[in-house]
Amino acid sequence: MKRLTVPAIQRRKKDGVTAEPLVMLTAYTARQAQLLDPHCDLLLVGDSLGQVIYGLPSTLPVTLDMMIAHGAAVVRGSYHSVVIVDMPFGSYEASPQAAFASASRIMAETGAAGVKLEGGQAMAETIAFLTQRGIPVMAHIGLTPQAVNALGGYAARGRSEAEHAKIVADGEAVAQAGAFAVVIEGVIEPIAIALTEALAIPTIGIGASAKCDGQVLVTEDMLGMFERVPRFVKRYADIAGMIDDTAAKYAEEVRARSFPGAEQTYQPK
Ligand code: KIV
Ligand code: NA
Repeated sequence: MKRLTVPAIQRRKKDGVTAEPLVMLTAYTARQAQLLDPHCDLLLVGDSLGQVIYGLPSTLPVTLDMMIAHGAAVVRGSYHSVVIVDMPFGSYEASPQAAFASASRIMAETGAAGVKLEGGQAMAETIAFLTQRGIPVMAHIGLTPQAVNALGGYAARGRSEAEHAKIVADGEAVAQAGAFAVVIEGVIEPIAIALTEALAIPTIGIGASAKCDGQVLVTEDMLGMFERVPRFVKRYADIAGMIDDTAAKYAEEVRARSFPGAEQTYQPK
């Protein structure tokens, strides 16, 4: 199976319509990527790995080196999906030049197809700078977790008229700047629908609308690895429950000396 490309993803939205929605999930490890790859169009190495893998309180402490290590693992584990790596907090905001230095390291050291960064109008110049220099950029607007301190939490965005207008302007700005797609996170549905209709680039929703051109979720959230998940997550499985049951069985057998059994034990010839 040949790997999809960024232009192929972009071409899926023809005349403003994506007939077959784009499927994106997060992946942080090679084996996880391998399992998800056949089902996805895009794999996102999200900075959500800060919370999901490292137990950090937010995405803010995530470093470029962490993103590169996990990005390279996901590229090694996948063959088909377009791999996009999140630019972590602090690695791109200061200037287009700073962003290029970070993004070029991600591209060179992971083999990913592009990067994702948070921000709308304020990041338009940076998005243009990167795309004009050969680095495909996926934008991320609406509820942008790296701005949690400025936003005051993870509540859905766009309920006031001013906020609504700002998010629409952000979407238009990132598309204008050359982003190949845009993640729209945690916004009231009419904003996601309006941007999906207005923009020529694919919109990828998370807590947005089924009418977006694609959807993304944090894989561990979707798998049921966590007790607490945002309202927009649907838990398709109870992997936490499976792991709990499985570890309990193992512990019981070890304590009863029934593991290892004859099948798992070596004997002299
Ligand atoms: O870091 C992440 O996982 C993300 C997605 C939820 C869009 O940015
Ligand atoms: Na992210």
